[in-house]
Amino acid sequence: MVARRVTGVPLEQILGWAEFYGLRIVVEPGVFVPRRRTELLVDEALALHPETVVDICCGSGAVGAALARSIDGLNLHAADIDADAVRCARRNIEPSHVHLGDLYEPLPEELRGRVDVIVANAPYVPTDEIGSMPSEARDHEPRSALDGGADGLHVQRRVAVGAPLWLRDGGHLLIETSVGQADRTSRIIEQAGFATRIVSSDELDATVVVGVVLPTENTPTTGNSDSGKRVESG
Ligand SMILES: C[S@@+](CC[C@H](N)C(=O)[O-])C[C@H]1O[C@@H](n2cnc3c(N)ncnc32)[C@H](O)[C@@H]1O
Repeated sequence: MVARRVTGVPLEQILGWAEFYGLRIVVEPGVFVPRRRTELLVDEALALHPETVVDICCGSGAVGAALARSIDGLNLHAADIDADAVRCARRNIEPSHVHLGDLYEPLPEELRGRVDVIVANAPYVPTDEIGSMPSEARDHEPRSALDGGADGLHVQRRVAVGAPLWLRDGGHLLIETSVGQADRTSRIIEQAGFATRIVSSDELDATVVVGVVLPTENTPTTGNSDSGKRVESG
């Protein structure tokens, strides 16, 4: 184990678990290691008291697992494009509710228009910055878990555009991002038909954009709207 750690394999992949939100989350080799900062995404989702949640780009399923542990009877579905991640997530959350495929494509049809909260920690590292990440991430986490395209926002754009179809009226989309990308993530979510606020935690070094879906007649038609944006920190 020490020899593997010396070569840069993340400790969590060697031990087979990561601590996240007070839980032991099973982490298999080649699967993204859940980060403590992502606990802010859990806190913000919990504050909305959802009954139905989709954890999109779920990786190990850590976010969904933390929500399911905290909310009795939660109807949780999760999806990821990576077969290793899906296999791992099926060890952390109800296996029949973990779906393999591109973003929303593998979700059950009956969820359309019924989801209270979509949570997404999608890849958001700009392609050119992956080379300067630590070996643990660069060499031992899948590229598809990190690479957010040229500006880091490619997957977030697709998550935002697809979200209104799945959310109920007044439903929420929560996306983790970096402090430097938060304004752009926020704009992307607004352009998809949401009012947004940015939440950040210095303690966790974390930033989440929270969007609430607007009634269709309020959907911005230009790319420049800042309507409804608030910035919070805590
Ligand atoms: C940064 S990791 C986060 C994993 C997990 N949400 C967490 O916080 O630990 C991003 C995840 O997005 C998945 N992913 C990337 N592109 C995807 C797509 N088009 N559809 C579904 N999942 C995708 C990757 O396989 C990876 O598991």
